[in-house]
Amino acid sequence: MQETFYKVKGSVNKRIALISDLHEKPYDWILSSFQRQKPDMILICGDLINGRRPLHHTYKTDEISHILTFLRECAVTAPVYYSLGNHERLLSPYDLKKIRETGVTVLDNAWVKTEDLIIGGLTSYKRDIYQSFKAQYHPGELYPHSEPSRMKELQEKDYIWLKEMEQQDGFKILLSHHPECWKLRAPYLCEYRFDLVLSGHAHGGQFRYYRNHAWHGLFGPDQGLFPEYTEGMHTGKYGSMIISRGCSNTAPHIPRLFNPLEIVYIELTAQ
Ligand SMILES: [Fe+2]
Repeated sequence: MQETFYKVKGSVNKRIALISDLHEKPYDWILSSFQRQKPDMILICGDLINGRRPLHHTYKTDEISHILTFLRECAVTAPVYYSLGNHERLLSPYDLKKIRETGVTVLDNAWVKTEDLIIGGLTSYKRDIYQSFKAQYHPGELYPHSEPSRMKELQEKDYIWLKEMEQQDGFKILLSHHPECWKLRAPYLCEYRFDLVLSGHAHGGQFRYYRNHAWHGLFGPDQGLFPEYTEGMHTGKYGSMIISRGCSNTAPHIPRLFNPLEIVYIELTAQ
């Protein structure tokens, strides 16, 4: 387990904790880290849940009761903003209501203006695709194992709010579970005027190896072998993306190699 610190020039002085990919695994070490580091704000960029493939279109909220406890603990530490990953695909409006009742702000393809920052949450396109499937669901129909492709549809109607957020004055942070949405996949976030994009999902590439004086990830979901975006800071035209390597090992039978679990701290500095 590792605490990684980044410094980013912003408009305010603030310590931000970034949590990603907990997948319903133990979280005491995260709370201990919060006690030591005292973040001013906690941002969660998805996959707190360990979602199954959608088969019966329901999710029992009590299955995530300990995640609700975790969120309550986070919410008494600092303001919390939570954006949804692919594993949050099955969460129903009722589940989201229970999550909001913990005191956490859920950003489901939405942005908010806080006292000194603008914070948005881009929901995983896999949840958007599933929601679209569910809206046209016929009884007995099972969700296909391969995600149906509705990317074009999503680009046209679901990313308008990103443009609205981009036009706001102030330091803009976007939570985007998928780091490949930076440059490899719509909505190509590096083309937007966001100061900071925060991502997870790639779990650091599961195995990390050293080549050409740098560490690289071996495999990333939705990027395949030798993925480009698995951790660290990536600078673009307008801002940067920071990727968390995640807070759990999702596949316990496959070890993480040279790839410790990670809490990211971002020191925003006014100067
Ligand atoms: Fe994910």
